[in-house]
Amino acid sequence: MRIVKTIEETRAAVRRARAEGKLVGFLPTMGALHAGHMKLMSDVRRECGFVVVSIFVNPTQFGPSEDLAKYPRDLEADAAKCESEGVDLIFAPDVSEVYPTGFDTYVDVHGLTDTLEGASRPGHFRGVATVVAKLFNMVQPDKAYFGMKDYQQLLVIRKMVRDLDFPIEIVPIATVRENDGLAMSSRNAYLSPRERLAATVLFRALQMAEAQITSGKRDPEEIRKAVRDLIESEPLAVVDYVAVVDPETLTPAARMGKELLIALAVRIGHTRLIDNMLIGMK
Ligand code: PAJ
Repeated sequence: MRIVKTIEETRAAVRRARAEGKLVGFLPTMGALHAGHMKLMSDVRRECGFVVVSIFVNPTQFGPSEDLAKYPRDLEADAAKCESEGVDLIFAPDVSEVYPTGFDTYVDVHGLTDTLEGASRPGHFRGVATVVAKLFNMVQPDKAYFGMKDYQQLLVIRKMVRDLDFPIEIVPIATVRENDGLAMSSRNAYLSPRERLAATVLFRALQMAEAQITSGKRDPEEIRKAVRDLIESEPLAVVDYVAVVDPETLTPAARMGKELLIALAVRIGHTRLIDNMLIGMK
């Protein structure tokens, strides 16, 4: 496994792999890698002959009051995890490699970014779409992998790829969870033991919604309210949003379609957690 910091070295390594007839798989990350990321890496390893992971804490996707400065960074530990999953190349550029002085071009995906995370974190998806477009041009992979934990991000990237004709296949990966259901996230490390326990309310609420739908409840507004009530019954939890939406457009579901997405953002102490569940009708 190699660790490189420049676009030039990355492109040269990918060019060599492709010349050897290898399919190039790419997993963009911000580091602080956990077992969820490692599951994604092992999926890429299974499907592709050459596995590239980028590690870059992207400043343009953090709001002014967000956790950019304290976002966990540990390249050595991350590299060991990549090595153990059979990654071929880590691309870990400095901020100046990605955003040189004078950088002034951004990618805006309209519509899909107006709601949920887009509404709560203005400018966030502009930063995500811009850095992912740049990383795609830097790495030039055949396939790129995104977790469903960040469901809206996956949709935004899919739309960008379609709208801007990137010759890249976007592959979604199911959310990886702790034993008690909490979706794995680098931000879970911020939780105190009491908060960590309280954080299980997100998945419990999603499971309750699924059970209600399975047992015949069909009114999205009623389901939304029940999820909200359950989360609010946890004293350490403050709801940012609970949404029951169409999984393609992310617009509020007026009635039950074939599938529904329930998406949540909840603050536990100072830590903001998101989760979602795609629920299909039998
Ligand atoms: P990051 O939060 O590091 O996540 C990297 C990838 O891992 C994303 O596709 C994310 O959805 C996926 N992921 C994280 N936790 C997961 C879990 N518990 N189960 C399944 N997948 C999980 O998302 C980003 O970085 C950034 O926005 C990025 C796309 C790299 C652009 O900067």
